Amino acid sequence: MNANKLIPEHIAIVMDGNGRWAKKRGLTRVAGHKEGVNTLRKIVESCGKLGVDYLTVYAFSTENWKRPEKEVTFLMGLLKQYVKQEVPFLIENNVRLKFLGSREGLKVSVLKAMDSGEEQTKNQTGLTFNIAFNYGSRLEIKDSVRAIAQLVSKGKINPNEINETLIENYLYTAGMPDPSLLIRTSREMRLSNFLLWQLAYTEFYITDILWPDFSEQELLKAIDSYGSRNRRFGGI
Ligand code: FPP
Repeated sequence: MNANKLIPEHIAIVMDGNGRWAKKRGLTRVAGHKEGVNTLRKIVESCGKLGVDYLTVYAFSTENWKRPEKEVTFLMGLLKQYVKQEVPFLIENNVRLKFLGSREGLKVSVLKAMDSGEEQTKNQTGLTFNIAFNYGSRLEIKDSVRAIAQLVSKGKINPNEINETLIENYLYTAGMPDPSLLIRTSREMRLSNFLLWQLAYTEFYITDILWPDFSEQELLKAIDSYGSRNRRFGGI
């Protein structure tokens, strides 16, 4: 689409501001999440067209269980509905769906929907679209450390063999490149326990726009900003 643009290989997004978008319109918070799904569809399509290889979005964190029960139930239902409704669109756009996160605490019906979405799109060769759902980065790192400790205790590896690659092999993102660009909508300046390891050298782009108002035009602005950065990875 934009032959001269520097396209990030992997874009991560914290889709924030659904609640505020709804409140501004006198709607319930869940109406904001519903509209958020429409934005997500447009952004998945744009990323595919632009030639982005990986898109990772934060849909439900391990901390989001603290929200009112009604909202949690709605988000669980939205996930199931999302898979049912969007898989044909994902296949049409050659998108492979993956879920990142813990399976603990999720109902069987939700787990089934996630497995079915992954299974139905597993042969797509375009964009890999990761939905972080029941995701917490500290939990992810803790689980990786635990898995490696088990290898050590069984004598399968020596502690001196623990290196960054081994740790990465036990993260949900194993085998994927780290995000090149992180976008967070609705002006908040925090990571909220998202991809703490993987974002070590990522360029950040924070916008005032609330997620339901985010658009391809805004995505292109973020990509332009990314293209103007001088990424040094700690060098000079
Ligand atoms: C943060 O906005 C948003 C979420 C916790 C949910 C994100 C979900 C979507 C965008 C819909 C896609 C979902 C699935 C399951 C595919 P907020 O509610 O914290 O907004 P606020 O900060 O304005 O209150």
